[in-house]
Amino acid sequence: MRKKKSKVQNSKYSIKTYFSISIMVSIVAASSIFLYAFLDFISNHNRLLSAIVGVVYIAVMTFICMVLDARTKHLELKLPLRTILDATERITNGDLSVRLEPIHPWGKFDEYDIIIENLNKMVISLSNNSVLKSDFISNVSHEIKTPIAIIQNYATALTNENIPQEKKKEYLSTLIETSKKLSNLVSNILKLNKLENQDIIIEKKEFELGEYVRENVLKFEELIENKNIELDCDIDDMKILSDESYIEIILNNLISNAIKFTNEKGHIFISLKKVEDYAILKVSDDGIGMSQAVGKRIFEKFYQGDTSHSQEGNGLGLALVKKVIEIIGGEISVESEPLKGTTFIVKLETLN
Ligand SMILES: Nc1ncnc2c1ncn2[C@@H]1O[C@H](COP(=O)(O)OP(=O)(O)OP(=O)(O)O)[C@@H](O)[C@H]1O
Ligand SMILES: [Mg+2]
Repeated sequence: MRKKKSKVQNSKYSIKTYFSISIMVSIVAASSIFLYAFLDFISNHNRLLSAIVGVVYIAVMTFICMVLDARTKHLELKLPLRTILDATERITNGDLSVRLEPIHPWGKFDEYDIIIENLNKMVISLSNNSVLKSDFISNVSHEIKTPIAIIQNYATALTNENIPQEKKKEYLSTLIETSKKLSNLVSNILKLNKLENQDIIIEKKEFELGEYVRENVLKFEELIENKNIELDCDIDDMKILSDESYIEIILNNLISNAIKFTNEKGHIFISLKKVEDYAILKVSDDGIGMSQAVGKRIFEKFYQGDTSHSQEGNGLGLALVKKVIEIIGGEISVESEPLKGTTFIVKLETLN
């Protein structure tokens, strides 16, 4: 934008305007002198008559120039203003298909072209947002519908008094499981919504990141044992200034994904190393991995690359992680190969 601004022509005082005025004045002056001389000659040196005709001629010419000038101003200033005004009225009335053509498509970039370009950008971003919003709502409704239907069906089945005790237990555990998933989904949506829509206040404090990672890994002990996964950790101590609750979101999602997408008896490796002024956290697994095409989309909301695990989540975990990293400052990257495994790498600034 800065580059374009430097090209802006000042429409009021441009060289072109000065040039046109000088040419017009010269033409009027030269032609009036010529007329005066001509009249003087044909009227036998009647100077009064020549002067009167000359003055009338200059007045008429000035009037014509003023009309031409007003017409040019109308074309250069009022028409684009009218077009922009009409466009803003259409946008205000909800028409997000409005796109304006530049006034000077072949180069000259004036204030109107910049306003038009900004207006176009604004409408494109508005219409993208409204598409995203409606996609988000339809995704949420879709994700909520399934667990609610399950809860309804099983609760109805449980009203049947003749149901065997065994079945009752099975239905109840499905109900508990499904309501947990539902509550997890709602809590993730609320977290994302909070992170995206509000002014975030990060409560940064100094803490020992290595210790915090170890504590969080321990929370997954049972899940890891249940899948007979072998876990290795190489976690160094280092201090960091950040918000613990955000770091927890990152750890929970990366570790739970590693467990979810690793087969029984698989292997997970978690490391935390200090490299220069950065904490480098790596969560690796030798699980199902992912293709490049999947890898490109994993941070999108509700995207799930692996359909066989789609019941175990909603595809919001990594979207949350990405948003959190954006907020606290840092980087996240992924290296993965189908059937070989995946490594997520998070880079955060440390305290010296
Ligand atoms: N460690 C991993 N190995 C293989 N694929 C992964 C791994 N982590 C994430 N993915 C892929 O990225 C997708 C998105 O991950 P994300 O954590 O956002 O969603 P989810 O785990 O499916 O659901 P949720 O996190 O909401 O419970 C996953 O569905 C999966 O396809
Ligand atoms: Mg996940």
